[in-house]
Amino acid sequence: MILIMDPWLSAEGAFDSAWFQFPRNHHLARFVQTKLEDRTRERFIYISHIHGDHFDKPFLSRAATAQATFVIPQFRQPAFQDAISMFPSRNVVVCHDEEDFIVPGGSLTMLVDDHEFNRDSALLLRIDGHSMLNLNDCKIHDRAANIEGVDVFTCQFSGATWHPTCYDYPPERYEQIAHQKMTQKFEAVTRTIEALQPSFFLPAAGPPCFLDPTLAHINFEPVNIFPRATEFLEFFAERHGSSKVKCVALDPGDSLDAAAGMVKRVGSGERRVEFREAVRSYAADYADFFAEFTARHVGAQADDIYERLAAELQRKLDNFPLRHRVEIPLYLSGRETDSPLARVDFARGVVGLTNDISETAYYSVAVPEWELQRVLDGAITWEELSLTFRVVLHRTPDVYQPHIHAFLVLQAEDLTPYCDRFQEEEARQERIVVTAGGRSYEVDRYCRHQGGDLSLGTIVDGRHLVCPRHGWRYDLQDGGRCTTADATISAVPSRSP
Ligand code: FES
Repeated sequence: MILIMDPWLSAEGAFDSAWFQFPRNHHLARFVQTKLEDRTRERFIYISHIHGDHFDKPFLSRAATAQATFVIPQFRQPAFQDAISMFPSRNVVVCHDEEDFIVPGGSLTMLVDDHEFNRDSALLLRIDGHSMLNLNDCKIHDRAANIEGVDVFTCQFSGATWHPTCYDYPPERYEQIAHQKMTQKFEAVTRTIEALQPSFFLPAAGPPCFLDPTLAHINFEPVNIFPRATEFLEFFAERHGSSKVKCVALDPGDSLDAAAGMVKRVGSGERRVEFREAVRSYAADYADFFAEFTARHVGAQADDIYERLAAELQRKLDNFPLRHRVEIPLYLSGRETDSPLARVDFARGVVGLTNDISETAYYSVAVPEWELQRVLDGAITWEELSLTFRVVLHRTPDVYQPHIHAFLVLQAEDLTPYCDRFQEEEARQERIVVTAGGRSYEVDRYCRHQGGDLSLGTIVDGRHLVCPRHGWRYDLQDGGRCTTADATISAVPSRSP
């Protein structure tokens, strides 16, 4: 059988050509198509989730998918399944969480993370006596750590979010946050490798590089959430110099024979060239592409764009039952000078246009007008906009506000389900006892961010409980308050050991 997982191969990148594969892999599109045309074997295509760096619609629309079986996760929201059904295929197998699917020689087990902010999945393959866990960028490290008998483990080791990438922090603060996030991610991946003890670990699923001249600076920042694989491998080696796990950074085209323990290097070796030099040469090859891209998109906006923006934000607000919990206003504007601002007043449930920000506590987002128009036209979703990294955000106070984040990145029709889910999770009453610094505390079991299981969290500095999924820290000596977000797990001292 042939199983192709998340083939992201298009030369146009993802998220309106904001992200590009690094090292470049476009030359492998023909190779993958040949595999899909191989009639001597059964062919499967696993797509983990809807993001364009995993679900590459342009590539799939050119590929011979008609004789292949798509294997995808079952999400509550139908958008992903609907999108997959547009491609010709022999079959589409939709798997629930922990559901097995029998394939020649073994089985595939789907692991699903179905949260409004994170609809993603991972796949466990058990074939011909060997096993591989592909966690890609699905952050269920707490669940993955319990899987036994994994020979090959692969997952994302870098970040991919607009915080702090797009926030207007002073450089020192930016580097401090980025370094903390990078280290948290490295630690989460390291813990999972330690728990799984696979024969091989393959760092994968990012980070991308940025070829649009307006984003190219991200490639060259001294510290950010996009470390290269070598940085993770150095971190891991420092922590576990004696580990038997072989960590291998493969280039596109390289192969691993896990049974024989052999790596075959046929890739371009672009990863081994000095990164700055490689990415400059890559960007130079895309100069014409972005000249044409800019000519096509920039400066072609309709006159009524801000009226349309206000109407869309009002539609979102009308679908947002938790709006009364947001105490500060949100401003959305173009990045162009003199653009009006759409002001979202959550408390009053109204959106209006203004020219100034009149409060000291507020949240603001500035978007290039052409990209704003793409959202309003339905060409990209609000979440895809956030992943273009072409936005600039500001927040005072500098505290993560889950409801404002939800309001920004979700489509209007997803906001009511988000609110329902949030309230369901809030109502989960399970409490656990954790010990830190020689004291015991009773706390909520499930993380206020996205329900990570805090019984699998780690204690740092003798007082902070760190969630295993995305690293939120709860200060047990401060009643369980989150150190970076407006949330708490209500920690109270306990007599239990
Ligand atoms: S679930 Fe995201 S940090 Fe806990």
